[in-house]
Amino acid sequence: MTEDIERVLLTQEEIQNKVAEIGKKITVDFADKNPIFIGVLKGCFIFMADLMRNVDIQCSMDFMAVSSYSGTTSTGAVKINKDLSQDIAGRHLILVEDILDSGVTLNYLKNYLQVRQPASVHIATLLDKPARRKADIYADYSCFDVPDAFVVGYGLDYNEHYRNLPYIGILKPEIYS
Ligand code: IMP
Ligand code: MG
Repeated sequence: MTEDIERVLLTQEEIQNKVAEIGKKITVDFADKNPIFIGVLKGCFIFMADLMRNVDIQCSMDFMAVSSYSGTTSTGAVKINKDLSQDIAGRHLILVEDILDSGVTLNYLKNYLQVRQPASVHIATLLDKPARRKADIYADYSCFDVPDAFVVGYGLDYNEHYRNLPYIGILKPEIYS
């Protein structure tokens, strides 16, 4: 698998340190707010697990599943495949994403959830590709800005593979071209 990686962008250690730092910020910002972490499946799963273990306050979690991507380019369309299993009115939400790319997915989700009148909606993302933003949306908590290259690992996939890499790497273009 590692032979498909052009170069390691973020090591396991760099990721752990930064995720711990963001977890501490959330601990301070959401003390006594009992937030619900809402993971956007599937890419969030490793980041969310590590992030929540660095948050030292009362909180709960839920997941949503959306599809918007096939291969390496966005189709621009967002479909809800799994919705929340609880009432979120009056609650503080933290949407957890693997990467904020065009922003189309999170922009759609944020608006979709806002209709249910939560107390607040914040966004925590592992990676941010600001160069590719199309929707007017930003992350409240972002671990790393990344260049405009297709990255995999630590939850991020290419056609469902490479999620299990413990680091973030740039995929060799010949793999998807
Ligand atoms: P957006 O709607 O364009 O912001 O797309 C967000 C989703 O696209 C993420 O949750 C990822 O699943 C996927 N995505 C965007 N860029 C990459 C990448 O470089 N590697 C893997 N998945 C990506
Ligand atoms: Mg994906």
